[in-house]
Amino acid sequence: MAASFKPRIFSGIQPSGGLTLGNYLGALKRFVEKQEEGIETIYCLVDMHAITVWQDPEKLRQQTREAAAAFIAAGIDPKRSILFNQSQVSGHAELAWIFNCVARIGWMYRMTQFKDKTSGKNAENSSLGLLAYPSLMAADILLYHATMVPVGEDQKQHLELTRDIAAKFNHDYGTEFFPITEPVIEGAATRVMSLTDGTKKMSKSDPSDNSRINLTDDADTIAKKIRRAKTDPLPLPETVEGLKDRPDARNLVNIYAGLSGQPVAGVVAEFAGAQFGTFKPKLAELAVAKLAPITTEMNRLMKDPAEIDRILGDGADRADVIAAPILARTKEIVGMIGRG
Ligand code: TYM
Repeated sequence: MAASFKPRIFSGIQPSGGLTLGNYLGALKRFVEKQEEGIETIYCLVDMHAITVWQDPEKLRQQTREAAAAFIAAGIDPKRSILFNQSQVSGHAELAWIFNCVARIGWMYRMTQFKDKTSGKNAENSSLGLLAYPSLMAADILLYHATMVPVGEDQKQHLELTRDIAAKFNHDYGTEFFPITEPVIEGAATRVMSLTDGTKKMSKSDPSDNSRINLTDDADTIAKKIRRAKTDPLPLPETVEGLKDRPDARNLVNIYAGLSGQPVAGVVAEFAGAQFGTFKPKLAELAVAKLAPITTEMNRLMKDPAEIDRILGDGADRADVIAAPILARTKEIVGMIGRG
């Protein structure tokens, strides 16, 4: 009989730069929804993943606190959810090592994110950590026996690998100790695209700031970026089907749907036949209404970094309570002698 696992959600965000509207709609907003559904939720600022590419130490600390502030400002309640930074719970690194010995190198080379980040040719010069990145991600999830992982579309392949690692561990050691985790990729905005190129993902690492909305942008900046967002000359279509082959238009409609919580079809029905000159101001108004309160609250929280550090420390303590017995049992399964 297959082992049964308690429903538990885990997800993470890299504090490798300011968070974007993509992180908000694809992840953060949905993390809050999951918390409200009453499932146990564990959210992690993955600082060890962040250093797989060079991070200025002082900036990394600042960005980790800023990301924590964004979580809380967006509605994560650190009493109901566990919120912490990865490096404070040493089990992540320990389990990742064991998974490094379960996973195969070829699996890592096949990851499209690795290929994109190294553009194929710089692979030899990238950090070993960047190659092993997905193994640490599997450890993040499986250290808590998480059953569901809400993420944006771009993390799908990493989650498939997490399932492969869990399955291979279970098979190699003749156990059903690790769950086969379900990715949760749902909603209108699981892939928010660049405002300047609707065929590219909105990303914190894009050199052009106009390509993204940052959670730290003020109302004027948000409105200006949306006004300048790339569109095509046609009016908005009458049907969802009409957005096909119109990546820039589709992106703005998806963003509207994500922010308003409406299905894409509802947004299309509301703006059928409208020009972008009409739609963009409405989108800007909606974005400011949804994001400005978060930005204000983030700025307020950032004035007390010691309180943010306290919250992260408390979250790490609670995370460790769940992680420690799972790690101890894993070591036992593998054949390592523990302290008893
Ligand atoms: P990261 O930090 O790149 O992104 C964090 C989350 O935001 C989502 N996201 C987007 N969603 C929609 N549109 C976009 N343009 C967009 N950009 C980012 C991502 O899909 C992700 O859900 N490897 C992960 C971090 C991680 C993790 C984990 C996630 C480490 N361990 C364990 C889940 C579980 C990453 O780099 O996400």
